[in-house]
Amino acid sequence: MYGGRGAPSQEDLRHGATGAIAIISTVNETIDSAVMDAAGPGLRIVANCAVGYDNVDLAAANERDVLVSNTPGVLDKATADVAFGLLLATARRIVEADHHIRTHPDWHWGPREFLGRDLSAGTTLGIVGMGRIGFEMARSATAFDMRVLAYDPRPLDRRSVDLGVVAADLETVLASSDAITLHCPLTPQTRHLMNERTLALMKQGAVLVNTARGPLVDEAALHRVLVSGQLSGAGLDVFEDEPRIYPGLVELANVVLLPHIASAGDHTRGAMALLAIDNVRHCLEGRPLPTPVGCVPDQR
Ligand code: GLV
Ligand code: GLV
Repeated sequence: MYGGRGAPSQEDLRHGATGAIAIISTVNETIDSAVMDAAGPGLRIVANCAVGYDNVDLAAANERDVLVSNTPGVLDKATADVAFGLLLATARRIVEADHHIRTHPDWHWGPREFLGRDLSAGTTLGIVGMGRIGFEMARSATAFDMRVLAYDPRPLDRRSVDLGVVAADLETVLASSDAITLHCPLTPQTRHLMNERTLALMKQGAVLVNTARGPLVDEAALHRVLVSGQLSGAGLDVFEDEPRIYPGLVELANVVLLPHIASAGDHTRGAMALLAIDNVRHCLEGRPLPTPVGCVPDQR
């Protein structure tokens, strides 16, 4: 058992895992082959308390007949809420304006003070990764009268189509959207999905929101397009090398930064913990896992 604060070292993890039959991990823990070997041959399951499971070495788990589960479904709305919050905060400069009146007691109302980008008036949200979280984001955007374009390698499901979401290829989504929000998993294929080339495809003055995984975005390239004004803002809940933040980003007023809190809803975190425990229980009782990685029940 590891009970420290923050991300443990790999050595702490190996020590804590010794003799474990089940590991419940969070995004703070990298569960690699050495941690599994430290647990030993009795290890049956790694239950990741997150929907993303890029922190777990699936190949190493497979080789050792260790099951892996995640917590999809229970955090969709909470995550989309924070993504939408970041969208509003960046487009309408909410955090920047808050900082301004805290530091300028002489602030005044002005017709052009803190002009931001209107979200409703026919603007387009581009969703990259149209899974459950992407769908919740589409629902919020639709309620805000936004047009929704989506890129996903899989065809759109019925309810997304019914909502009016329009599928397009990545280039079209990037080039046609006033804001882009990322909701895809981190895999070798999606690492640096947003890079020099793809960021340049985004509309002049658009906004980027990332509540998925930091390494989806090349932060150095993002910093450049924010400084040049190609993008008007970015809302980031996740970072390439957490907890490190690309130094230049902290200095920019048009960036809103959150410490990976998208699923941190009071009910949501409880539901994630219960689902992780449920997976462990099913595994130890020899029953099929509720949410094994690789075959997550979806509303498609
Ligand atoms: C959190 O980051 C998650 O993947 O659930
Ligand atoms: C996306 O996050 C999904 O759960 O498909």
